[in-house]
Amino acid sequence: MFEELKFSLSLGSDNHSGVHPRVMEALQAANRGHAHAYGMDELCQLATVEFKRAFGPEVEAQYVFTGTAANVLSMATQVRSFEAVICSEQAHLHLDECGAPEKFLGTKLWPLPSRDGKIAPEQCESLLQRMGDQHFSQPKCVSLTLPSEFGVCYSLDELREWRRFTKERNLMLHLDGARLANAAAFLDVSLEDLTRGVGADVVSLGGSKNGLMGAEAVLLFTPAAKQAFKFYRKQAMQLSSKTRFLAAQFYAYLKDDLWRQIAEHSTGLARDLEERLRVNHPDFKIALPVQSNALFVHVPKTLLKDLRERFFFYIWDSDTQLCRWMISWDWTAEHNQKLLTAITEVKTCSTLK
Ligand SMILES: Cc1ncc(COP(=O)(O)O)c(C=O)c1O
Repeated sequence: MFEELKFSLSLGSDNHSGVHPRVMEALQAANRGHAHAYGMDELCQLATVEFKRAFGPEVEAQYVFTGTAANVLSMATQVRSFEAVICSEQAHLHLDECGAPEKFLGTKLWPLPSRDGKIAPEQCESLLQRMGDQHFSQPKCVSLTLPSEFGVCYSLDELREWRRFTKERNLMLHLDGARLANAAAFLDVSLEDLTRGVGADVVSLGGSKNGLMGAEAVLLFTPAAKQAFKFYRKQAMQLSSKTRFLAAQFYAYLKDDLWRQIAEHSTGLARDLEERLRVNHPDFKIALPVQSNALFVHVPKTLLKDLRERFFFYIWDSDTQLCRWMISWDWTAEHNQKLLTAITEVKTCSTLK
């Protein structure tokens, strides 16, 4: 089947890769007999055990289909239409969700300036001065992306500082963890350390970017966050009937810490690539520290077109040829070598032109 299709290798996104074999195996194993729908089956219970092992006993994990839904529903139970969500101006929430938070929550987003996708508590001070002012959207939630859209990680101390600040101001703390596992691998901490451990109220946990298929989770830690989630999810049309297939994927992902294996692998290869570019191709300027599976690099203008024809990747800023190379779970050391060879080849071609 599908022999006529050409499956190529891409640096475009970690969404471009397929399903991890162990996740596919779990899907196959779950594909037997009949089971109750809507999360009432035994497989969901098994996955719950794994979630509690990974994130601590207080966690309540709820499945959705997309990361956008995870982000929006994370806030749905607590953010009202006159309230506001503070995030970075680079946040997926702000730039890449087609106004879904504004539409579904009716809320205002307050994007704060950021070069690398991270923000700091001091940046919120002026917004918070108008708390209680009826003319002003009331900040209610801070959403941090970890790792950021530029692949950079907050440290545990920075996250704890955010928690201290948000608690003092009565703000909820949300983490967009579309690639949370990569941050945990880079910081060498557990998933619990990075979520419950820093006092996050709600976390969007990515699956699709890490070898799963159409499976994302919202992790609820506090009673306020847990309250009424299931009703909002149903209204948002994100309640799956055949939940066992989402649960099976997360079961495989969390069991025996497959998440860490995948994240260490992709982050390790991104860092290896960074190192080899620095040594062998200093004209490819690394724009930001590589702290996850994303590499942001200024590709020399004369090589851009030819290189993109060999390996697809996105151009983030065409003025500076800033490009994003995203390393997927199935990328290998040989692929790094192939890419470096391709760079050498396009350089040779460009000198011959
Ligand atoms: C940081 C971040 N958050 C959330 C998402 C969710 O995306 P989607 O709704 O496409 O699953 C993405 C996807 O690119 C992302 O990069």
